[in-house]
Amino acid sequence: MTFRDNDHTDLKNNKHTTNIVVIGKSGQLAWELAQLTDQNTTITCLGRKEIDISCEQSINEALIKYQAEAVINASAYTAVDQAESDKDSAYTINAVAVKNLASVCQKLSLHLIHISTDFVFNGDKGSPYLPNDPIKPLGVYGASKAKGEKSINQIIPNNSCIIRTSWVYSTHGNNFVKTMLRLMAEKSELGIISDQIGSPTYAKSLAKVCFLASKNKVSGIHHWTDAGVASWYDFAVAIQVLALSKGLLEKAIPIKPINTTDYPTPAARPSYSILDKTSCNDVFANLPLVHWRSQLNDMMDKL
Ligand SMILES: NC(=O)c1ccc[n+]([C@@H]2O[C@H](COP(=O)([O-])OP(=O)(O)OC[C@H]3O[C@@H](n4cnc5c(N)ncnc54)[C@H](OP(=O)(O)O)[C@@H]3O)[C@@H](O)[C@H]2O)c1
Repeated sequence: MTFRDNDHTDLKNNKHTTNIVVIGKSGQLAWELAQLTDQNTTITCLGRKEIDISCEQSINEALIKYQAEAVINASAYTAVDQAESDKDSAYTINAVAVKNLASVCQKLSLHLIHISTDFVFNGDKGSPYLPNDPIKPLGVYGASKAKGEKSINQIIPNNSCIIRTSWVYSTHGNNFVKTMLRLMAEKSELGIISDQIGSPTYAKSLAKVCFLASKNKVSGIHHWTDAGVASWYDFAVAIQVLALSKGLLEKAIPIKPINTTDYPTPAARPSYSILDKTSCNDVFANLPLVHWRSQLNDMMDKL
């Protein structure tokens, strides 16, 4: 396929291709999004060199320069514990930058996909969270993400989609799977939290949902995770079993279930953050919902 310099048009077939600009180039989700293109869509990922997301003017200039026709915001301040002592940075990226982005997208009439988190909930509900359930973040990260959500809903409600997800991992970047593999190779035993329940999500499947939502200009708040639920302990045990079977680890080490209180962290986390995906299933007909164990197997095959 060939493109004119200033127009995303397939000269041979005279077909217009939509250019989706992804903000955040080096993150897990952005990396998976960069792998997704189809005949009618190009993905242009912008990193810190190309766009300063804390500056509205820079966002405006970059979206015009890179000829955005739709935007996916895959950038975020995701260091949950660090956010407790670095509140300003978390709010700058997760709230102020998102507000600026929403304003620019509104002005340029660009559909915006924004990713949010299960950490906007406090975990007390005891059954899967619906998109419209009241939010009550426990820490700075969740609160800053909640503020970003609010700006999008106020500034660009009809031309935006917020997709909340949880426990994201991929072959690219830092995540629980890669940390576990490193620790399992280094340590003689591990204690892993067994009283926090969530849904591990392969960034590749999240990327597909974001891509589809952007192409179809889906609006509203939706939840997306891989299927099934797990504790961090379940997740760690599954990682070890698969790693041994794939030759990624040489020997098994004992993994003990521990309580949250045995492993204090600066940020409190929801003990139960299962997200109800029904609205997503309604919006995307036939979207395959794959169990996290199967997705983990797929991801670890690629390591
Ligand atoms: N990871 C999870 O478990 C999880 C769970 C629930 C929801 N989410 C949400 O899912 C989305 C994607 O997460 P992810 O795991 O792909 O995140 P990630 O791997 O941490 O990537 C975050 C991206 O944001 C960029 N970024 C951070 N600060 C920036 C700044 N000041 N200027 C420009 N870029 C900046 C990073 O760029 P640099 O690499 O250059 O810093 C990186 O590209 C986020 O909205 C996150 O809140 C994630």
